[in-house]
Amino acid sequence: MDSFPTKTPKLGRVLIDEAAIASRLDALGAEITAVYRGKPLTVVAVLNGSLVFAADLLRRIPLPLRLDCISVTSYHGRESTGVVTFLQTALPDIDGRDVLLVDDILDTGRTLAAIRRKFITEASPASIRIAVLLRKRKQRESSLEADFAGFDIGDEFVVGYGLDYEERYRNLPCISVLE
Ligand code: IMP
Ligand code: MG
Repeated sequence: MDSFPTKTPKLGRVLIDEAAIASRLDALGAEITAVYRGKPLTVVAVLNGSLVFAADLLRRIPLPLRLDCISVTSYHGRESTGVVTFLQTALPDIDGRDVLLVDDILDTGRTLAAIRRKFITEASPASIRIAVLLRKRKQRESSLEADFAGFDIGDEFVVGYGLDYEERYRNLPCISVLE
């Protein structure tokens, strides 16, 4: 049995506000558009965390792209379990496509590394790149790096703009620290 929590976490300071997110996404969208112009782009959004980010980012990439979503889980509360579970068995049809994997945050890198490994071993994409809204400044267990990152942040737990703590706070319009 888990020990009973002594304290419920509270929302802390705003780390990145709505306006800062919007203007960073303008630049990120332009950067991604330049890389994929003329290429068969498939954006694969990693649900649920990337839902808000992916929706806002996609509308800044004016190319004839395809969108697919996959669901994985690896977290319980604040700690990564280290085990990445795929919630569906079928992969998106990515053979010959240039894939942009979109996730909310690069923490240990385990989730995106597992997804990339699965895509490479079970399908034949032309390329795979990674876009994350947030990247934690820390030593990562996997050698995986993001090709496109919105913001570098410290190694603290954040919520909002799609990111949750036990499924709460995904609907905050900004990124806040959880105390
Ligand atoms: P990784 O596999 O450790 O890189 O973590 C990937 C997933 O953990 C992310 O897609 C998030 O869903 C979750 N995660 C990691 N850090 C945070 C955080 O600070 N806040 C909320 N979710 C997080
Ligand atoms: Mg999550």
